[in-house]
Formats: sequence, C-alpha cells, structure tokens
Amino acid sequence: MSTIPSPSPAALPAPLSADEPDAGVLARSAEQTAVTVLTAAAPHRLADVVPAPREVRPDPAADWVLPADAVITVSADPAATAVAEHLAELLRPATGYPLPVADATTPDRAGGIALVLDEATDLGAEGYRLDITTDGVRVTAATAAGLFHGVQTLRQLLPATIESPNQVTERWALPGGTITDAPRFPYRGAMLDVARHFFAVEDVLRVIDHLARYKLNHLHLHLTDDQGWRIAVDSWPKLTSVGGATEVGGGPGGHYTKTDYARIVSYAADRHITVVPEIDLPGHTNSALVAYPELAPDKIAPPPYTGTEVGFSYVDPADERTYDFVADVLGEVAALTPGPWLHIGGDEAFKVKGEVYTGFVERVQRIVADLGKTVVGWHQLAPAAHLDGRVLQWWGTDSADPTTAEAVRQGARLIVSPGNHAYLDMKYAPDTPIGHDWAGLIDVRKAYDWDPGTHVADVPAEAVLGVEAPLWTESVTSLADIELLLLPRLPAIAEVGWSTRATHDWADFRDRLAGQGPRWTTAGITFHRAPEIPWPTTPVIPTQRDTTQTDTAAH
Ligand code: ACM
Repeated sequence: MSTIPSPSPAALPAPLSADEPDAGVLARSAEQTAVTVLTAAAPHRLADVVPAPREVRPDPAADWVLPADAVITVSADPAATAVAEHLAELLRPATGYPLPVADATTPDRAGGIALVLDEATDLGAEGYRLDITTDGVRVTAATAAGLFHGVQTLRQLLPATIESPNQVTERWALPGGTITDAPRFPYRGAMLDVARHFFAVEDVLRVIDHLARYKLNHLHLHLTDDQGWRIAVDSWPKLTSVGGATEVGGGPGGHYTKTDYARIVSYAADRHITVVPEIDLPGHTNSALVAYPELAPDKIAPPPYTGTEVGFSYVDPADERTYDFVADVLGEVAALTPGPWLHIGGDEAFKVKGEVYTGFVERVQRIVADLGKTVVGWHQLAPAAHLDGRVLQWWGTDSADPTTAEAVRQGARLIVSPGNHAYLDMKYAPDTPIGHDWAGLIDVRKAYDWDPGTHVADVPAEAVLGVEAPLWTESVTSLADIELLLLPRLPAIAEVGWSTRATHDWADFRDRLAGQGPRWTTAGITFHRAPEIPWPTTPVIPTQRDTTQTDTAAH
C-alpha cells in the first residue's frame, strides 16, 4: 500500500490532544502507515448532496455510524448484487472494513446497509429512497439503476475521507433521515471528443467515474472528426490504420479496437451509463477521406489535418459508395453498441447545402432506423424530414431557433447543450490555461443558471429529453486537462438535468458544491478552484493517484 505524503506542517493546525477529538484536524501517527484523521463528530447534513435530491427529511436523532463488522445485504438479483459489490468496493479502501455482500435472505444482521429492490416502489426507472436510521441504512428502488444512484448519494453523505485510496481511521458517521429522489429528465449526459485528441481507455473510464458520481447516465463519444478516426471498422480498415494516425497538433493519435470499445461500453453499463457513439457526417470527415479518397467529392486524397478549423471536408453525397460506407460503418458501430442511440453528427457541413444536405441526412436517418437504432444528431439536422423518434442535440447560443422549434413540433425530441452554458471546452475566465471562448466564458454560475425545460424558445419541457455537457478537445491533451474543465462544472450540469426546479438555488448549490472539493482532493482528482465557490479550508488528505492507471500531468 502506498503511503499518503506528509502534509506540510505549516499547512496544518497543531495536532489536537486525544481529549479534543472533535475538530477538523488531520494528524499523522509516526508508527502507522495509514493516516489517522479526526474529523468533526457531527456528520454531514442530509441535504449536502449534488445533484440536489427531490425531498430531504433529516432526523438528527437517527444519525448512524458504519461499524467495522457491517454487512451489505442485497435483494437476490444479479444487477442489484452488482450494485452492492460496487458499493463495497467504494467503501473498503478508506474504511479497511471487510464489508461482505450477502443475500438479503441470510439471517438478519442488523446494523448494516441494505439494498432493496422493490418493484412496487413508485420512484420511476432511476429513483430511490434512502433511509438512515439508528438501525442502519436502507436504499430502496424499483431498479438496479435507482439503487446505484442511491449508493452515490450514500457515498456523498460519508466523510470526505471515504475517497481515500488508503485506509483512514475515521468515524464513518451518516446523518439520519430519509431522502426520496428521482430525476427530472431521463437523459443526462456528457460528451468527450476523442477525435481532436485521442484518449486512452483508462482515461475514458475515469471520465465515466465522474459521470457516475453525479448521476449522469449517458456518455456521448465523438469518435470521428477531421483530425482522426477513433473506432475500428473491419470493412473499412484504413479508417483507423490511416485515418486514426493523426490528431490536433501532429501527435500520434490512436484508435479504439472493438475490444477497447466493448470495455468502455461494459464499464459504463456497470455504472448504469449508456454509451452514445457519434460518427460525424457528412462534414468533419477529413480523416476518412485521407484513408479512402473515393469518398471525396474530387476523388483525391486530402492531406491529413491537424489544425482546428471546421467546415471544409465532406463525404460525396452524390456517390452511392458513400452510402455503402455509411451503412457499413453505422452497421458495425450499431452491432458494438447495446444502447438505443446512434449519433450521426450533421454539424458544420458548410459545403453540403440545401436539399443536398437534407437528402443526405434523410438517407442516413433511414439507415439508422433500419439498424433498429434511434437517430441522434446536432440540431443542424432539423430541416431534414422528421423520422419517428429522432432526437436533436441543440448547441445554440441564441434561444430563438424557429427551425429547431418546428422540428420539435413535428415530433423531434431535444437534448439541450447550450454552447454558452454547457460547453465545457469554454474557459471559466480569461486566464483559464486551456479552452475556448467563442461561446463566451462559462463560470460555475453560468453552467448552473439555466433551465433546460424553457431554454429553447417554443420548445415545451415535455419535448426535452434532457441535457448534455460536451467537452471538445482541441486544446485538451491529458486527463488532468479533462478534469480541469469538467470539474466543478459537470456537477452543475448534472444538477440542472437531475433536480427539480423547486430546488434550484445558486447560493445553496454553491455551498453543496464546495463540499465536493475535499472529496476530489482526497481522490487525487484535478479540478478548477473556481473563486465563486467557498471551498473549505480545513485540511484534507492530498493523495497521489496510482500513476499506472491515470495521467496526472499538469499543463
Ligand atoms: C458543434 O459544436 N460543432 C456541435
């Protein structure tokens, strides 16, 4: 076990003597490898959760402390049991407790955590109830996804030291009471652009971990763009061997094999997150044209592209081979993807105009439907004919968008990703070391203060499937860069997508978000210390990440 680096003495108050155990003080015992942490005796407030739960009923008389011999019991169901194992794996490193997972039918062992699958629970597909009483903890849900979200809430209610990868001596206190919770929108996502810069599978898995913490349930992967093609397609192998070998700035690029992609999909599914693959068409296709010039309008291979301009490339909409290519690629990606969605891009195809563009999109929409998948595309798809079930991802900055509103009237549903609120590649402030500002600066308040249900003019809340926070990576080259832009804004978008409007309150959110900082620090996660957030000044454990798993390079 690696040890936690000693905090600088100057950064810490003097250690307390043993008879003063109730202050937030970190002390280190010379003969121990584990850090001893004495924190305030009082647990967190029951409402200290991000995203804000629907209903919180504290019962201060019912605070409970996790005992070393606690058992996690779970309904006899494979998916629920997987959630129980996940919970045990979250809690074992810091507590050092064995936390065995047992079938709920085993003789009652009071004083533990019970995960109860109850189909009669009226909390929808993802809701849960969390009861903390003097007898222990019970999470109840109709689905394993609901149990999983309840577990994330439980995790946030434990002391921040629960995030330590090393054993900590702690009083694992939980605040008594009941939380009843369910999401406002069914689709809550983030997008990672793995085309402008390529990111290793391990980095993507860490991003999935961040989504799971905040109850996001979709990971959109922008798999193809001018600078690189990132997903193996057996029938067109040069897409990756040639088209995958570049990225912005001239680095080596890379791609996911089908096994890599399956690993991402499966890791996400274990966290109740659905992967949404995007093959961007007909524009943003230079990497495909480099590999297969017959797809290019002039049948001449363009040079590989490692810059950051957009809108210059397109596959030839007048050539039947293009539609064979599209059908082959989407067919293979659909076969790899258990989720219902196939994202076909459609943005910034500036050189494919009018009826040529809508005709292309309509053919591709039908290809997706014939594969049994639901079409998702950027809102530029709006003028193309409606196809049942199609979903438009709106990334505008001007809420007045009559073309999108008309597509919605014809039946399209909307994922809302306003460029000036939800684009996580925008800088926080002029001095943010990476990112862009074409849609404006997005500080945490800007990421939080908008309502997906009313944001796009003439689009009713019922037509809104949910929200998504895209992260484009022209300027992003490492996991630390990703985390810097994601945190703390991702929880803001997560709350906008999960929580009811009745709980929307900047001052309250700011305080709850502040409590996440020590958790990230303890877990070794990079984040932007946004000045508008009252981050606690009490000491936390700075943790070195396991560098075999992650890239913590700073820029
Ligand atoms: C986009 O930002 N081009 C969808």
